[in-house]
Amino acid sequence: SHISFDTTNVENFVAKHELDEMQPLITMADSQLRNRTGAGAEYSDWITLPTDYDKAEFARIQKAAEQIKSDSQALVVIGIGGSYLGAKAAIDFLHPSFYNELSDEERQAPKIYFAGNSTSSAYINDLVRVLGDKDFSVNVISKSGTTTEPSIAFRVFKKLLEKKYGEAGAKKRIYATTDANKGALHDEAAAEGYETFVIPDGVGGRFSVLTPVGLLPIAASGVDIQQLMDGAKDAQDEYSDSDLRKNEAYRYAALRRILYDKGYTTELLINWEPTMQYLSEWWKQLMGESEGKNQKGIYPSSANFSTDLHSLGQYIQEGRRDLFETVVKLDNPVSNIALPEEEGNKDGLQYLEGKTVDEVNTNAFQGVTLAHVDGGVPNLAVHIPQQDAYSLGYLIYFFEIAVGASGYTFGINPFNQPGVEAYKTNMFALLGKPGYEEQTKTLRARLNK
Ligand code: PA5
Repeated sequence: SHISFDTTNVENFVAKHELDEMQPLITMADSQLRNRTGAGAEYSDWITLPTDYDKAEFARIQKAAEQIKSDSQALVVIGIGGSYLGAKAAIDFLHPSFYNELSDEERQAPKIYFAGNSTSSAYINDLVRVLGDKDFSVNVISKSGTTTEPSIAFRVFKKLLEKKYGEAGAKKRIYATTDANKGALHDEAAAEGYETFVIPDGVGGRFSVLTPVGLLPIAASGVDIQQLMDGAKDAQDEYSDSDLRKNEAYRYAALRRILYDKGYTTELLINWEPTMQYLSEWWKQLMGESEGKNQKGIYPSSANFSTDLHSLGQYIQEGRRDLFETVVKLDNPVSNIALPEEEGNKDGLQYLEGKTVDEVNTNAFQGVTLAHVDGGVPNLAVHIPQQDAYSLGYLIYFFEIAVGASGYTFGINPFNQPGVEAYKTNMFALLGKPGYEEQTKTLRARLNK
């Protein structure tokens, strides 16, 4: 496997026979997944996506990305939830920190800005200011084509494009990623003639990073998306065995399920690289939206180390013992730096001279892991060798197949998200959307009490 999954630091918490006992449940989950007999199977096309995707559309994505690179200094990527987090995670992961601040020469691709992922008015205004007179394009992404946040942002940035390039010019700079047949965005794109990319029916938002949802913005940022798919494809092969001894993704699923049953109900995804923070945000949606149902499920949380050791560290070490950690550890940093030498030892750092900052990072990782294990926090570690597109594709698939199996061990439908509707109904009612009149009255009465 390209990834190595280290379970050494869970051995104090889970006996070997407990893992063996999970095999029948995992075999059942695997069969439900692969034979498409489980709940929500109609949304499990992501399982074979790395080998079974539209190659012609893939080439069109690469072409559109080249077009954007050639005519745009900035790309505004509009989307929320599953239509946002994968691209954001990948672009952060695959580029240096401060990507947008690099010179055009170094970047060789547009600056990437995300919009439509909140209801903040200030954020929209701030982005309009930052765009200034830059040449830009827009990629609007929405599977339903009706989500409020991206729809609002799209109106604003569409208007800005029209003001700058005229109606016809604007249309050439709008790329719409949406459903093949339905939704307001689909209809508008068809009527206006925007270049359109399809989100496959059988792939839900949180599993869609390897569809045009993620691929177009990632490619526009200069990443070789073929490598991303190749990594995912190799992971698809690697994690196709239902045997827990052979399938590390299933071992991860089984171990977290065992830990949950023992009362470890919160999982912290840990990174040791600031460029990996959004990987955790993507993972939280993947895990939480898949498993958090029927009053069950592991609560997915995250922490950024070493940063959060100076804030959450106290709780993790000594607070309520319902936490376990899954560390995604990068084994080789993209670049390294030696501690500069200095006369004397005024700052007390002489003992680190001759060492690199990454040695500090790795020693911190090892030391913190042992301290947390000693404090009663089970620890799983996923090691990735490089911070590159191939490894990311591999890692994405690792987590996806793990949560698919894990979800079925909980006896829930891992592929729906009925719970994200409740707030929308209230919001629409309060904003006076047609069709919500009754709820408007009830909610207003409650609020005015
Ligand atoms: O997973 C989900 O269903 C959500 O996070 C959606 O991805 C999010 O609401 C965006 O939906 P859409 O792509 O339809 O605009």
